[in-house]
Amino acid sequence: MLDAPTRVVVTGAAGFIGSHLCERLLADGHQVTGIDSFSDYYARLRKQQNLRGVSAHRNFVLEEADLVDADLRRILDGTTVVFHLAGQPGVRPSWGGHFDRYVHDNIVATQRLLESLRETPLQRLVFASSSSVYGDAERFPTKETALPRPVSPYGMTKLAAEHLTFVYMRNFGIPATSLRYFSVYGPRQRPDMAFCRFMEALVDGEEIEIFGDGEQTREFTYVGDAVDGTVKAASADVVGQIINLGGGSRVTVNRVLDTLEDISRINVRRQYLPAAPGDPRHTGASINLARERLGWEPRVSLREGLANQWRWFQESRAGAAGAVGREA
Ligand code: NAD
Ligand code: UGA
Repeated sequence: MLDAPTRVVVTGAAGFIGSHLCERLLADGHQVTGIDSFSDYYARLRKQQNLRGVSAHRNFVLEEADLVDADLRRILDGTTVVFHLAGQPGVRPSWGGHFDRYVHDNIVATQRLLESLRETPLQRLVFASSSSVYGDAERFPTKETALPRPVSPYGMTKLAAEHLTFVYMRNFGIPATSLRYFSVYGPRQRPDMAFCRFMEALVDGEEIEIFGDGEQTREFTYVGDAVDGTVKAASADVVGQIINLGGGSRVTVNRVLDTLEDISRINVRRQYLPAAPGDPRHTGASINLARERLGWEPRVSLREGLANQWRWFQESRAGAAGAVGREA
């Protein structure tokens, strides 16, 4: 935990995880500058809604800028900790021409940020890496020492960004830590991610599309737990470390749908499609290092976290319907 209130920067502040992190840092008394380019991967309005809880806070400043050409020296002046969450996420859309976006937002943006940090005396840089760097791991739970071998272009760009943080740490002493998040979920989850898509289809009475036989497993991680580990990584003795943050157990997609059926009391109609290129068959985190070095433990069970996301999803749907009604 960061002991005293300090000045921090969160890149990707308007995103799913970044917006939760900003809320937590403000609640802890810090001065937070958010940077976000409002990339068009999903609707700008959603990102503005993500920021609703922080935008009016007196200790929050938002800089709308792309890290690749932002005036980072000015923005970073006086900052002690940088949480670097900005990036182009999503495993399945990273093929074809979309790849340029992944290179720009994950590799070039990270390199520009690191260049500007050469001049900034910093306590810590915390980088949001991904379980997708492992690809199809040979062993579960997967330790940080496993050979990373991504199976998607997305995973490859996240691994490149991880390596970049090491390169700048090694040469210029930037005190960096990389966290490998495992499939994060909860309120404000990105609309392209599984749980959001499942809930959308459920309330619209449509079939839920499952990529593959649904027996693939993921170590789903509740967003509040991911944020807690991220904050702890800013002050723990972990410079130079790479640390998994996983939810504590592996679950099949079929099992998630059973649980969602139970929570929502709506029958799920399932449509099984071919497995998606780039998706690893299984992910599963060894979280011993996070326990030992961060004093971190995931607290929220899949059932509890899914129920929270379902509640949020229904409320935001009702809010959107109300807004349309008022406009008509
Ligand atoms: P998100 O898309 O909701 O948030 C990312 C934000 O970064 C967006 O608001 C986007 O506008 C911004 N951004 C992108 N490129 C930028 C640039 N060049 N300059 C400034 N801002 C830029 O995604 P998320 O799910 O909140 O993920 C946050 C980070 O965590 C990403 O780096 C992602 O790769 C990583 N991650 C996410 C998960 C997950 O399950 N959600 C898992 C592993 C790793
Ligand atoms: C997620 C994030 O989207 C990535 O940005 C992140 O880097 C990655 O986690 C990670 O942990 O590193 P993913 O695991 O694909 O990627 O997350 P979901 O979108 O929640 O998908 C989970 C599973 O559900 C996958 O097996 C996927 O194939 C499946 N799925 C997804 C479906 O069967 N149907 C859908 O409509 C969506």
